[in-house]
Formats: sequence, C-alpha cells, structure tokens
Amino acid sequence: MSDYIMLRSDTETQPTPEMRRAMAEAEVGDDVSQRDPTVLRLEAIAAERVGKEAALFVPTGTMGNLASLMVHGGRGDEVILDEGAHIYINEQGGMCALAGLTPKIVPAKNGLMDPAALEAAIRTDNIHYPVPKLLCLENTHNAGGGRVIPPDLFRRYCSIARSRNLAVHLDGARIFNAAAAAGVEVTEYTREVDSVQFCLSKGLSAPVGSMVAGSREFIAQARRARKVLGGGMRQAGVIAAAGIIALEQMTDRLKEDHDHAKLLAELVKDLDCFELLYRPVETNMVFLSTEKTGRDAYTVGRELLEQGLDVTVPGKQLIRMVTNRHVTEEDIRKAGSILHAYAESVSRR
Ligand SMILES: Cc1ncc(COP(=O)(O)O)c(C=O)c1O
Repeated sequence: MSDYIMLRSDTETQPTPEMRRAMAEAEVGDDVSQRDPTVLRLEAIAAERVGKEAALFVPTGTMGNLASLMVHGGRGDEVILDEGAHIYINEQGGMCALAGLTPKIVPAKNGLMDPAALEAAIRTDNIHYPVPKLLCLENTHNAGGGRVIPPDLFRRYCSIARSRNLAVHLDGARIFNAAAAAGVEVTEYTREVDSVQFCLSKGLSAPVGSMVAGSREFIAQARRARKVLGGGMRQAGVIAAAGIIALEQMTDRLKEDHDHAKLLAELVKDLDCFELLYRPVETNMVFLSTEKTGRDAYTVGRELLEQGLDVTVPGKQLIRMVTNRHVTEEDIRKAGSILHAYAESVSRR
C-alpha cells in the first residue's frame, strides 16, 4: 500500500491474504461453457444472497449494467434514470452507444427523486414517443454522496414503475453498503427489482468482478449479452474464488467504513474553507466543496497529496474521500488534521 492516507476510492482495496490463497488454489474450467466450478459456486452463492433464481459473474459493474440493460430493452426503447445516475454519467453513454437505448432523465436531489417527478417522467403510449421499458435505480448513490435510498421510498419507486409496466434494474454497485446503513437484509431491496448488478471489487475487496442477478431466463439472456460485449471469460475461477470470500466474509465489516466516514465528516464539518456536502454522511463517502479555498479542486487535491492525503476530484470544486478496509481510525484522525492544517494555511493566505 502507498504511504498516503488512501481515501481515493473503495476500488483501491487489495485482496485479503485469504483471497490470494483461494485464488491460487481455485479449481477452474472454461466458464464460457459454464464448466468452471468456482464461478458456478460464486454464481449460486450470489443468487441466493440476493434472493434471485440465478446470477452471472461479469468483469465489471459497467458491463453488468450494460448487459442487463441490453436484456431489458432494444433500440430506441426508453430507460428512466435519475440525473446523477452512474449508468447515465459515468459509463460513457454505453446504453446509447452500444445498446441503442434512449435515456429519460428525472431530476434528483442527493440521488433521491421525487416520486411525483418519476411518475411524471413515464411517457404515455403515443406513436411519436419512444417506448418506456425500464427504471434504473442506484443504491447507494455515488454522485448523491453515498446516499441510501430508504427502503420505503425504494418500494415506492418500484411500485410506480410496475404500475406503468416498466421493469426495474438496480445498479447496486454498493448495495451491501446500503443494506448495512439502512439496517436491513439486502433482499429488502433486491426482491423489489427484476435485475441487480453489484460489485465485488469495491468495499468488499475482491480484486475484480461484479455480479448480475435475476430470473433464470433473464440471466440466460444476460449471459449472451456478456459474450457479445467480450466478457466471456475462460478460467475465471481464479478471480471468482476471491469473490466468494468477498460475499461470505466482507459484507459485515462495511459498517466500520461508514463509521469512519461519519467520523471524518464530524472532524471537518466546521472548517471555513471546506463545505461538507450531502449531509448527513450515511455510508463510506465524504464530499467537500473547495469553493471557499479560492482554488480549484485539482490544485487542492494536489496540495493535499503533498501533505499525505490522497483524494479524488470528481468536479472543479469538489473533492471526494471514500473510506475502505485499509483506512484505520488513526488514519481518519490524521486526515482530519491534514484538512485542518490546510484550512489554516488558506486563512493565512
Ligand atoms: C454506482 C456505480 N455503478 C457502477 C459502477 C461501475 O463499476 P466498474 O468500475 O466495476 O465498472 C460504479 C463504479 O464506481 C459505481 O460507483
């Protein structure tokens, strides 16, 4: 690991020693013909965990989302997403470029849509309009500051979609963080949706991989979509072995990351030059506005790195810090001190 306090992302997590051992010893076969026993085991465990009939191992969350959307709709069909959705903003427009789908964007605040706005966004039948097919939800919501969609609001979104004959796909890259923060089983969310994508490679610490889960028929089609996207892997059991440990051992510790993020928020919430956004912090992300530093966030990010704190800069006036397994309470306190010292240096300028 680096000498910096690594708050760039939960994707920076390294596989645990047990994952590395399991990877070395994994029994493998050709997964394209569904003959890799370790992948088959991971898929069975994942399906059971989220209460679906079947699951599919995919290399990335982006591919899991795209393969799912390709099954739900075809050229011209409309997919409803909130304005900050990762699928809409951060996946290169793959839903349009590769799947031919049309996005319909619903305004959202901190990752949460007003149910009335969602209802209003679903088009009625008209020869001039694209056909609405799918609602995509994201939980936790990355651009919404790691926001959790409360279970009752989540159910409300899904029931609006159903009442208008739309399917629902959940971009649950961090759905285990959402469940931990909401204090519910993950199935409280996943049973409401037709398909879910979740990442093994973020806070759960696997080096590679995501899962898609849904009905048996859905997963059979998603498997075809994965293949045309170039995601048919061969002896993938080598990486699936780490995914099994991610699912079996790493979900219960996510609350620790949330506690650390809340502590960090507490330490910096009164600083003059950094405004804490998306309050209250609910999961593993802390966003600060750098506007009052008088410098752009890229400069702030570089200067913080010189002081030993590694953050990401998702916007011109925005820095993001994400807690993860490698960040201790002591690191968080140090990170707080670095931000305090930085704020003092700004006030002296
Ligand atoms: C909410 C969300 N969905 C999907 C993804 C895509 O995952 P991947 O980086 O594995 O493609 C990410 C990645 O950060 C994410 O935050």
